[in-house]
Amino acid sequence: MEKTFLMIKPDGVQRNLIGEIVTRFEKKGFQLSGAKLMNISNEKAEKHYGEHKDKPFFGELVDFITSGPVFAMVWEGENVIATARQMMGKTNPQEAAPGTIRGDYGLTVGKNIIHGSDSPESAEREIQLFFENDEILSFTKDN
Ligand code: CMP
Repeated sequence: MEKTFLMIKPDGVQRNLIGEIVTRFEKKGFQLSGAKLMNISNEKAEKHYGEHKDKPFFGELVDFITSGPVFAMVWEGENVIATARQMMGKTNPQEAAPGTIRGDYGLTVGKNIIHGSDSPESAEREIQLFFENDEILSFTKDN
């Protein structure tokens, strides 16, 4: 089954949005396979955002994501990568539709509440970067 990496950023954690966001994905029908509250090192942040290293906002991005705890998650389900991104809404919360996470809770592109993998390749890379294999659990719905 397809897996994706989602991360509630420091603004979402500080604003007590973890429960609200987890609930949305649970109610949609996806299954949580891994989750942890963690601080991200500079090195991990630079790796995670490597594709943006030449962008003018790279320094700001790394400073923000390392500024406080994030809630890192692995979610599993049919077409979870694309569907989770629809549920998150556009990167810039000002353009994100109402009803999406960023549309409902975000105001600025830097502090946009949540990150989600944009492709199967990124999902695999990001899950490996943030989780050990034994931190990812699969369980059947009958358990
Ligand atoms: P994310 O999905 O985590 O991936 C890259 C992030 O870069 C993105 O969310 C935004 O938070 C951030 N970002 C994109 N554009 C800008 C910008 N112009 N200024 C600051 N941050 C940005």
